Formats: sequence, structure tokens, C-alpha cells
Amino acid sequence: MGNQRVAVIPGDGIGVEVIAEAVKILDTLIRTRHLPLEIVTFDWGAEKYLREGVSLPEGAFDMFRREFDVILIGAMGDPRVPTNQHAADILLGIRFGLDLYVNQRPIKLLDARFCPLKNRSEREVNFVVFRENTEGPYVGVGGNLKRGTPDEVAVTEDVNTRKGVERILVHAFEHARARGMKKLCMGDKSNAMPHGHGLWQRTFAEVRRRYPEIESRHLFVDTLAMEMVRDPSQFEVIVTSNLLGDILSDLGAALAGGLGLSPSANLHPGQVSMFEPVHGSAPMLAGKNVANPMAAILSAAMMLEFLGHANEARQIETAVAEAVRQEITTPDLGGNQGTRAVGDWIAARLTGFQVA
Ligand code: NAD
Ligand code: IPM
Ligand code: MN
Repeated sequence: MGNQRVAVIPGDGIGVEVIAEAVKILDTLIRTRHLPLEIVTFDWGAEKYLREGVSLPEGAFDMFRREFDVILIGAMGDPRVPTNQHAADILLGIRFGLDLYVNQRPIKLLDARFCPLKNRSEREVNFVVFRENTEGPYVGVGGNLKRGTPDEVAVTEDVNTRKGVERILVHAFEHARARGMKKLCMGDKSNAMPHGHGLWQRTFAEVRRRYPEIESRHLFVDTLAMEMVRDPSQFEVIVTSNLLGDILSDLGAALAGGLGLSPSANLHPGQVSMFEPVHGSAPMLAGKNVANPMAAILSAAMMLEFLGHANEARQIETAVAEAVRQEITTPDLGGNQGTRAVGDWIAARLTGFQVA
């Protein structure tokens, strides 16, 4: 088998620090398990954008499709680029350009003490959010009239296509079916947005009929958010639109210990896909060796699973769970370890897993 090629884009702020730890884990597995991975790093982000005016270099999509199996990305966002243009070009650019229509965001409580809800066990907070990743208000259709005047008009269109809605719904149902999951909930705001989200309603009504063994239901997103907090144990799979999924996945992250523990995958099954922590570049934490690298490390585990290395993915998850249990954590989880020390501990633990 030829090498599997991994493009790594650390990005900005704490993205750089947490991706260094994820790469440390991958390097450990390459060394000790002979994983056939080849890592190529790209210095794309605010720094390069400010220096050279280049965000996503020309030809990037073709290069990824031709030369890479996966992308591991940190975070984009820098106070020196108030428009966030480079993030739109790079992060959203890759999601759209590679048609990564599935944004998979697992919400899994690793230790009950991290849940802000009273008396919730690990098994009661364990679900996955599927966020549509190529449409909605994110696509940039819209404009401004009379900009900068008191009469300014600003329009952002919420784009929903039959194909786009159907494929994310089907993916969520297929995920549930393949794992014997029984509960799926679709969230939208069709009561207020009857055109765009009416399409979600109609498509959902049709798709759910193909999965009679799954108890599927619909909740308006406001109620869904409330129910996630009131009783998260009722959810196994949540599927929703791009913007609503962005919000619900951060809410979910809070139920499971915060953004420092939340990984994600941007997928187009069968094609080059991208993996990233859900969190951003947290400029206030950058350069201080305090950011939690676990979300990035768990994203690398999702990446390995996608590449067919399920055993190694499980081993990473187990090592992270052990670090959590032994309080080898950064301050966001109540610990007093630095970013690098957490990465070192998990790497050492993985070396211990090795069968001689
Ligand atoms: P953020 O995720 O960077 O931070 C939100 C909060 O969570 C902050 O209090 C931060 O300190 C904390 N936090 C986040 N990650 C953490 C970690 N690994 N360890 C410990 N604490 C962590 O979101 P924000 O502050 O809204 O945005 C900052 C910048 O990041 C903005 O420019 C935003 O656009 C960008 N952003 C990028 C991505 C991405 O590239 N995927 C995602 C979200 C936000
Ligand atoms: C995320 C982020 C991005 C999003 C931002 C940085 C555009 O919040 O990945 O969750 O909204 O998709
Ligand atoms: Mn977000």
C-alpha cells in the first residue's frame, strides 16, 4: 500500500499549538505502529495572508484531490484580520471547494464531572450532531445597499437545495442504521422560515420513510436546544442545517466538557476529507501553552478512523479518556498541565499500548 498523505494546516492562534500535539500523536503512531502516513504541512493562515495577500493558494483544491487523502486543520481567526477573509477563503473555501457536505460533531461526555448539568452520567450525554456543511447562509449570497448610511440594507440569503438537504439527511440516517442507533432528530426553523426550512420538512418526511426501524422525529431548533439541556439522554443522532448546526454543536460541546474536548470531521464520503477541532483560534490563549489539545487529538483519531485505522483511533480515544481520568488536563478542564505536557502524556501512553 502506498502512503496515505495528510495535509496539515495549523492556521492561527491556538490552532498552531493544538495541531502540534495532534501531529506529535500521529508521529508516535507512525513510529511505533508503522502507520503508512506521510505528513505535509502548509503555513496558510493570517500571517501569510498579511504578509503576501494569499489566503488559499490557487490550485489548492486540485492539489488536495490529486495528492492527499485527508486534511487536518487547526483554526483560522486573527484579530489583525477583522474581516476574517482568510478564514472564509481557507476554512469555508475548503468545505465548499471539496464539497465536504457532512460536518460530523460527536458530543461525548468522557467524565461526569465535566457536565454542567446536575447528576448526568457519561452514558447520558453521548450523541452526534450532523451539520449540513455546504449551504445555508454560509455560501455568501447576498449584499449591501447604501452601505455605511443610516438607510443601509444588508441581505444574507439562506440557501437550501433539495440535493443538499437530502444528502445530509440520508447520511445521518445511514450513520444511525449502520450503528444500530434508534433515535434521530431533525432540527429546523420551518415555522419562521417556511421556504428554505419547508424544504427540510418535506425532504425529511420523504427520507424518514426509508428508515422505518429508526424512531425519527422533528423538533423546531429552539425546542431542540432546550431539550438538549433538559435531557440530553434522549438524543443519539441530530441532523440540521449549517448555521443551526454550528450553534447546536457548541451547545453540545458545553454539555460534554467544553470546546477543548470537541472534535469534528468535514466529510465527503469516498473523497479527500478534512478534520478539525470545533473550537477557534482563541487569541486570548494563544502562545501561552494553556490550550487544550484534546479536541485536535480526537480529531486526528476521527481522521485515522476515516483512513481505515480504527484500532489506532480507539487507542487514541482511550488514552485521552485516561488522561482525563487521571487529571492530566489543561486549566479549562480544571487541571494544571500545559498543552505540550498533555500531548506528551498521551503520546507516552500510546507508546505503552504497543505490543512488542
Ligand atoms: P474560540 O473557540 O476560539 O473560543 C471560545 C472560548 O472557548 C474561549 O473562551 C476560548 O478561550 C475557549 N477555548 C476554545 N478552544 C479552547 C481550547 N482548545 N482549550 C481551552 N479553551 C478553549 O471562539 P471565538 O472566541 O468565538 O473565536 C476566536 C476566533 O476563532 C475568531 O476569529 C473566530 O472566527 C475563529 N473561529 C475559527 C474556527 C475554525 O477555524 N474552525 C472555529 C470557531 C471560531
Ligand atoms: C466552526 C466555526 C466556523 C463556522 C467559523 C469560523 C466560520 O465556528 O467551524 O464551527 O461557523 O463554521
Ligand atoms: Mn462554530
